[in-house]
Amino acid sequence: MIKIAPSILSADFANLERDIRKIASADYVHVDVMDGLFVPNITIGIPVVKALRPTTSLPLDVHLMIERPVRYVEQFCDAGADIVTCHVESDSEENIRAALTKIHAKGKKAGVVVKPKTPAEAVLPFLNECDMVLVMTVEPGFGGQSFMADMMPKVAQIRAWIDERTLTCELEVDGGVAIQTRDACVNAGANVLVAGSAVYGAEDIPARIKELRG
Ligand code: DX5
Ligand code: ZN
Repeated sequence: MIKIAPSILSADFANLERDIRKIASADYVHVDVMDGLFVPNITIGIPVVKALRPTTSLPLDVHLMIERPVRYVEQFCDAGADIVTCHVESDSEENIRAALTKIHAKGKKAGVVVKPKTPAEAVLPFLNECDMVLVMTVEPGFGGQSFMADMMPKVAQIRAWIDERTLTCELEVDGGVAIQTRDACVNAGANVLVAGSAVYGAEDIPARIKELRG
């Protein structure tokens, strides 16, 4: 089954509770955390994750676009994150591994993310420890960008490794995912689709979520 993770980056930040209620039929709430260093934008931090936690029973899928995430992963878990993903580009292999271990020690799901220019092989050192791998289909930093179809071979390669190893790891795509691009993602082997503008820009949000799920 395909899961939909609407990104609240496209929600109204003055009305997050209301806008999270609008996506109650989704599978995850995707929370984009940016520090102005790893990416050229600053968004949501630990206090906001904590404030959002009681507003929904959906799992919070927290995408950390921050330098050296190992410093903060435990605080995001304590704030109520259910899944925490860290960019492989954001620290040394040793520290990313330490971040995954800390997330698991908190009883939460852990994963790694790769930017468009990062090859599929970069996930291999972590794959056996991952509950989620996220392949970016835009440069991280902003919502509303164009989908990069040339990321599909990377998604297919990672799907092949997950299946070969019979791992339970989920495979997520993020950036420019819409009605026109969801089939390419699913055909390449993604099972979780993040969508910001495609969900929050829809007249009928529940219908759009259903359509994206396919
Ligand atoms: C970009 C974020 C995405 C973004 C997706 O850095 O990681 O989650 O919100 O937005 P859309 O779906 O509009 O491309
Ligand atoms: Zn994201």
